[in-house]
Amino acid sequence: MLILGIDTSCDDTAAAVVEDGKNMLSNIVSSQNEIHSKYGGIVPELASRRHIEMIIPVVHEAMRKAGAGFNDISAIAVSRGPGLIGSLLVGVCFAKALSFTRNIPLVAINHLEGHIYSIFLEVKPKYPFLALVVSGGHTSFYRVDGFGLYSELGRTRDDAAGEAFDKVAKLLGFGYPGGPIIDALAAKGNAGAIAFPRTFLKESFDVSFSGLKTAVLNYTKKYPESKKEDIAASFQSAVIEILIKRTIDIARSINVKNIVLSGGVAANSALRKQIKEKFLEAGLEVYLPSLDLCTDNAAMIAATGYYHFINNKIADYTLNPKAYLTLGAADG
Ligand code: KG4
Ligand code: ZN
Repeated sequence: MLILGIDTSCDDTAAAVVEDGKNMLSNIVSSQNEIHSKYGGIVPELASRRHIEMIIPVVHEAMRKAGAGFNDISAIAVSRGPGLIGSLLVGVCFAKALSFTRNIPLVAINHLEGHIYSIFLEVKPKYPFLALVVSGGHTSFYRVDGFGLYSELGRTRDDAAGEAFDKVAKLLGFGYPGGPIIDALAAKGNAGAIAFPRTFLKESFDVSFSGLKTAVLNYTKKYPESKKEDIAASFQSAVIEILIKRTIDIARSINVKNIVLSGGVAANSALRKQIKEKFLEAGLEVYLPSLDLCTDNAAMIAATGYYHFINNKIADYTLNPKAYLTLGAADG
C-alpha cells in the first residue's frame, strides 16, 4: 500500500512515497535555507511563496522517483499543523485538490506525530516508549503507548532547543539554520570553557532554554574577544545535559526503557554520541533516526499516514490547518 506524504509546515517543501508505513520509495525535500539564511531566521511570507512555487515540482519528483502513478496511491497524508499557517495552507490546499480530483482518500497528520513515527521507517520500537521531539518549534517529551496514544509529560516553557541553537548562531554572527553551524563549530571548541547555566524546573519535567540563551548573549557582550568555538561548545553541552538528564528522569519515573529521539536537534552529532553513552549507563535503549529523517521530511508524514489510513482515520474536505496544535490522545 503506497501513501503519498506532503509536508509544508515550516520552510522545507517535502513530498515522499512510502510503502506499508516503512519502505521509503522516495523522500524529496526542497530546502529554503538559502532564502532565509541572510535574515538569521525564517521569514514566513517568503516561506509560503516558495512553497507555492515548489509544491508541484516536489510532488512530481517524489512520484517519479518512486516509479508510481496517482492510481497506485492509496491515500494522501498531509501535515495539518503545528507550523507556520501560510506554509501549512499551501500543503493542505494542494493535498485537498489532489485528493478531490483523483478521488484518493485524504489523511491529516499532526507534524509532531510525524516526527515520532520517523523511526518506524527504519526500525519499529516496542511500546510503550518515551519520545523526545526536539526541533526548531518544539521540545516535548511524550509517553507513547500505541498508535494514537500519546501523553505529554514535559515540554519547554519558552524557547525550543532548536530555536535556542538558531538564536545563539545568529548572535554569534552566523546564518540560518544555526543548529548545524553550532554543531560544526562546537567540534573545534572546549565544552568546559564556560559554565553556562542549566535550568531544571523542580515542580515538573518541563525544561527551559531562554535563560541559557540570555547567558550566552551576556557573555558575548562582556567578552567580545572570546573564541566562538568555545562559546558554541559550552552552549551546546548545556543543551545536551538538560535534554539527557530530563529524559532519564522521566524514563525512570514512568519506568519505560525505550527512548525514541526525533526532530532536527536529534541530528546533533554530540547529542547523538553522548545520548548513546549516557543511556547505556542508565540501562535505557535509544532509537535514533538517520540524519535526514530527523529534520523535516515527508516520509515521516507518509509513514504516520499509513497508520491513520489502516485505522480508518480519514479527513474530510473541511480540513483546515492549525498553526497551534498539541499532541495528545484526543488530537493525534
Ligand atoms: O525538525 P526540524 O527540521 O523543523 C521543525 O519542525 O522545527 O528542526 C529544525 C531545527 C532548527 O532549529 C535547526 O537549527 C535544528 O533543528 N538542527 C540542529 C541540527 N540540525 C538541525 N540543531 C543542532 N544540531 C544539528 N546538527
Ligand atoms: Zn519538524
